[in-house]
Amino acid sequence: MTDASETPRGLDLLRDPIRNKGTAFTSEERSSLGLRGLLPPRVLSQELQVQRVVENLRRQQSDLERYVYLQALHDRNERLFYKVVIDQVEEVMPLIYTPTVGKACQEFGHIFQRPRGMFISIEDQGRIDEILACWPHDDVRVIVVTDGERILGLGDLGADGMGIPIGKLSLYTACAGIHPDKCLPITLDVGTDNMELLADPLYIGLPMRRVRGERYDAFIDEFVGAVTTRFPRTVLQFEDFGNANAFRLLEKYRNRVCTFNDDIQGTASVALAGLLSAMPLTGRPFTEGRWLFLGAGEAGIGIGRLIVAALMAEGIAEAEAKKRCWYFDSKGLITSERTDISEHKRTFAHEHRPITDFVDAVHSLEPTGILGASGVYGSFTRSIVEAISEIQERPIVFSLSNPTSRSECTARQAYEWSGGRAIFASGSPFGPVELDERTLVPGQGNNTYIFPGLGMGLIVSEASRVVDEMFLVAARTLAAQVSQRDLDVGRVYPPLSKIRSVSEEIAVEVAEVAYKMGLARRDRPQDLRAAVKDEHFSPEY
Ligand code: NAI
Repeated sequence: MTDASETPRGLDLLRDPIRNKGTAFTSEERSSLGLRGLLPPRVLSQELQVQRVVENLRRQQSDLERYVYLQALHDRNERLFYKVVIDQVEEVMPLIYTPTVGKACQEFGHIFQRPRGMFISIEDQGRIDEILACWPHDDVRVIVVTDGERILGLGDLGADGMGIPIGKLSLYTACAGIHPDKCLPITLDVGTDNMELLADPLYIGLPMRRVRGERYDAFIDEFVGAVTTRFPRTVLQFEDFGNANAFRLLEKYRNRVCTFNDDIQGTASVALAGLLSAMPLTGRPFTEGRWLFLGAGEAGIGIGRLIVAALMAEGIAEAEAKKRCWYFDSKGLITSERTDISEHKRTFAHEHRPITDFVDAVHSLEPTGILGASGVYGSFTRSIVEAISEIQERPIVFSLSNPTSRSECTARQAYEWSGGRAIFASGSPFGPVELDERTLVPGQGNNTYIFPGLGMGLIVSEASRVVDEMFLVAARTLAAQVSQRDLDVGRVYPPLSKIRSVSEEIAVEVAEVAYKMGLARRDRPQDLRAAVKDEHFSPEY
């Protein structure tokens, strides 16, 4: 990557992804920038370049090949890449993000072509600041960092998990318009416990078992200190850490630096938005809902915590609010008698007889909705969906696990097994389902609706902290973007094609919270929306 102060010419310019326009360089530019003869003579518009990219994209034989093709474009011509992502968001997002990014991470060492972002390994301990100094951009405003221990629902992929920070940051730019130079994907390589990767000669990370305990904590501490010193205005997003570390690190740093954990907090916000949109379809207010989760990890517990915050904001006492959320993990219903549960689960351990069968739990608790965040494909079986459909006229069924290969049930299954009555949303996209002469359109309950707008709001206000109120307001703002037309076809989220305007609304509201709560580090602009628009990166040449 080239520093903004340099102005490359000739071949160097064509190899600079930020400035390259390829065949769209005008005749004048070709003369003045030393490009004459280095490009075929015909000058193409960016629209025609997009057309060519889309044509080539569709010609690829598999989604993984489409991912590789798009990454190569990203490396060649960044503005064209973003133009394609923005113009064709519904087609391209599943290729650069879930589900394809999951496959890409599983194959990362094998499809690797060019590095992107930064890799900081445990061997760099003691000199992380020196390493960060190698990054060519000074004004980094969003960092997505992973240690690769829990990549989507696919488990430990070590340094091969780098596809996730890269994909997420592409969405910060595509969905909220954050300038790519301000985005930095980072993988912290502390080893992997994935034996297949350790045996794979093409694995890109350190071929060693995961470092844990004090050395790990000291490494993360050094990293957080170094990164927030070098880039003091950055938002630090923790992504796809294993849950034993994710909850701990969030508690440790949330009151010290501008940080959040997307799996815990971003997921919570998007899921809450879906529930807020879905409740009117059930004919009951949100305050009357009762939720049964399959999976009590980062996503599940995060959602429960935010539901509690939302209920408390409606005047419901904390203890009562907590009783609205019930959890079922790999060992059964989480009850107060259980001694095998971690601290984050204990908050939601209620008095109940032990239950080890989810259908039994549905019958006993009569939830308004079931929310899957287990990472276990097919775990919402026909009998589970039928059980909740007997109890509820419009059962809410959210299969939030990613990628598609981990989804608790498919859209078609939820609709068919509920006789077309389920209000369904999923973490990875499913297409429309034809059932009994109706077309049902599932919404994508994915945190991509939240984090880009949230990030932009934090940037514009230069917020010092990320607080729960921001996730609450983001959820409400997202829910308010759902139209009657969306609800009529069963979609509890706006279509992805609206993601840029959705992100803008969220950015404005999040910045508003930062100002109201005294967390902003920048004078309030007269017009917050204009300030958000001013930050926008345009992919046009
Ligand atoms: P995690 O590892 O923290 O938690 C997984 C939970 O599932 C644990 O409580 C575990 O006990 C439980 N579980 C595992 N097998 C089970 C079984 N057979 N029956 C019942 N429970 C079982 O993982 P995390 O972060 O909560 O993620 C879970 C899933 O949610 C992943 O697939 C992830 O991709 C997805 N997710 C979706 C997001 C979205 O935007 N839709 C965002 C974040 C995560």
